[in-house]
Amino acid sequence: MFNVAMPFLCCVSSAVTIGTDMLELDCHITKDEQVVVSHDANLKRSTGINVNVSDLKYCELPPYLCKLDVPFQRACKCEGKDNRIPLLKEVFEAFPETPINIDIKVNNNVLIKKVSELVKQYKREHLTVWGNASSEIVEKCYKENSDIPILFSLQRVLLILGLFFTGLLPFVPIREQFFEIPMPSIILNLLMRKALFDHLTARGIQVYVWVLNEEHEYKRAFDLGATGVMTDYPTKLKDFLNNFSA
Ligand SMILES: *[C@@H]1O[C@H](CO)[C@@H](O)[C@H](O)[C@H]1NC(C)=O
Ligand SMILES: *[C@@H]1O[C@H](CO)[C@@H](O)[C@H](O)[C@H]1NC(C)=O
Repeated sequence: MFNVAMPFLCCVSSAVTIGTDMLELDCHITKDEQVVVSHDANLKRSTGINVNVSDLKYCELPPYLCKLDVPFQRACKCEGKDNRIPLLKEVFEAFPETPINIDIKVNNNVLIKKVSELVKQYKREHLTVWGNASSEIVEKCYKENSDIPILFSLQRVLLILGLFFTGLLPFVPIREQFFEIPMPSIILNLLMRKALFDHLTARGIQVYVWVLNEEHEYKRAFDLGATGVMTDYPTKLKDFLNNFSA
């Protein structure tokens, strides 16, 4: 479904979360303030042309090469004729019901404001979670529009971890709704605790682990009580989940 519905999306979305299907997108802003979905700020890797998204107007952006060997193109064929770099609003229109995790890839106030406006315009607050590993960006997102759920920044992930091990976590308020654990990471083994996952999910926080591509990793995450995992291989994960729940 994912590849067929929109060929270009397979070039831009590094992973799909399954539990419920969720797209994970990286956003940038063009010179004429259009929000586009692109993994990198610089387009050399994806289009062959060494330019930055922020230096061009939307209509000036080069098309995707759609050839292989880029990590985020692994799971797809990119045979579609339409290999323009997509606007965020086009993704919203193509996937009106699908939850989307938006990574704000640059610390840019206009980008944050425009994404917020689009989310409002398409009434997707309940289908969106946004943020970045940087706590400064997450803070700006929250200030811009507190109706959109935010991700834990890396700093907050570490804080939560410290609170968990000192036993203080139950006493600390948490306003984030999505706890996403980056993989691979040295801290992952510390973080993958059933007691921690249980505590967070009991407080209504969704716990995602990414990016996992092996069955034994999927199993470990779900055994611990993860809400979902992000993967570059959605079909493999779907097959795993069918067996897991059966
Ligand atoms: C793209 O932006 C980066 C960071 O601002 C800068 O260092 C680089 O020179 C820019 N590249 C081009 C081709 O303008
Ligand atoms: C977070 O933002 C920084 C720029 O401030 C960027 O370099 C980084 O890739 C972003 N991280 C994620 C996970 O989006």
